[in-house]
Amino acid sequence: MISVTCVAPVNIALIKYWGKRHEDLILPINDSISMTLSTDELCAKTTVTASETFEQNRMWLNGDEVPFEEGSRLTRCLKEVHRLALANGSQKVSPSWKIHIASVNNFPTAAGLASSAAGYACLVYSLARLYDIPLSEELTTVARQGSGSACRSLYGGFVQWHRGALDNGSDSVAKQIASSKHWPNMHVLILVVNDERKKTASTKGMQQAVKTSQLIRHRADKVVPERIAQLTDAIEKRDFQTFAEITMKDSNQFHAIALDTYPPCVYMNDVSHKIASFVHSYNEIMGSLHAAYTFDAGPNACLYVLEENVPELLDAVQKVFPSDSMDSGTYLRGLSVPKVDSTPKIGDVHKTKIDILDINARNAFRYIIHTKVGEGPKELSDNNSLMINGLPLGD
Ligand code: DP6
Repeated sequence: MISVTCVAPVNIALIKYWGKRHEDLILPINDSISMTLSTDELCAKTTVTASETFEQNRMWLNGDEVPFEEGSRLTRCLKEVHRLALANGSQKVSPSWKIHIASVNNFPTAAGLASSAAGYACLVYSLARLYDIPLSEELTTVARQGSGSACRSLYGGFVQWHRGALDNGSDSVAKQIASSKHWPNMHVLILVVNDERKKTASTKGMQQAVKTSQLIRHRADKVVPERIAQLTDAIEKRDFQTFAEITMKDSNQFHAIALDTYPPCVYMNDVSHKIASFVHSYNEIMGSLHAAYTFDAGPNACLYVLEENVPELLDAVQKVFPSDSMDSGTYLRGLSVPKVDSTPKIGDVHKTKIDILDINARNAFRYIIHTKVGEGPKELSDNNSLMINGLPLGD
């Protein structure tokens, strides 16, 4: 019996992937760029065990067994890894041995964060470690076939997924633009919004968009290529102003496409819109862009902010969106934030202006996670295993 345990990060798109040109191979109609978040706060963790004695492939997700169906994204990833193992002449584990997989997220799935991206990246990375396959662009094509955005979670820092042009998808790969060390003070506040509405899943939403939106072609052909070039340049120069502007505009355009879909997909709710307006007012008060929002296929906001500006931004967020649980110890999660002296002083124009911002909504968030740019997946030592004798712990 041989076992490997790894963690893989969540990534949040700055330029969104939305729309496929091939459903099964998961080939996108446009390039996308994301930032990988630190695994210290948010990650998927996976243990894969292979044994000559296992009778069938099995998988447990957050403790519950999930079927290993023929033709599913899961079996497709496993087949692709086996193909790479053969091509690499990997001898470590025979691909004929069945495997057992246990995977968990260290954050609630209900938080609506990109759990499938971290999950598939972790699965593919762990299998690669098991079969001794090195991390490569080719490996990102395997993660891509689990969930498109997962290919970007195989690298840390800032990552571009190239749409590619070939029909077989071999050039639809993720590449790192810059490592996490390039812009280490890039932090993120995730505002997890209270929302119980049933939303259209990403896979379905983008399918409908490609079928019915008249704006999506213009976005894919014209807008995204220009933005990719501008954002790459902004990341290289650590130019937060351009970074913030493109990120917010691209989030807005993605949601405009979602609304242009018929029937429309509504992902942002009233609180999400209040957050977006708050960020614009805040930036105006500060005199330059100090924060940038982005929203995925749900109401939660990710605010990008430089480390030195986190305390002031968080203070303003809490003034405008006060919560009864503010001091509960579980409301503010992740990296600690130094306290700011929020009493406005004479001559301190910013604080005085923030003080007069209206309270927008009370108890609008379940909690806030403070995290930052981080590294790609990594293998952990055996004492972190989620399985014992090939079965999930506690089973
Ligand atoms: C809005 O990668 O979840 O988060 O490829 O169908 O599994 P599938 O979709 P998925 O879509 C992510 C969409 C997004 C934008 C992004 O991450 O780029």
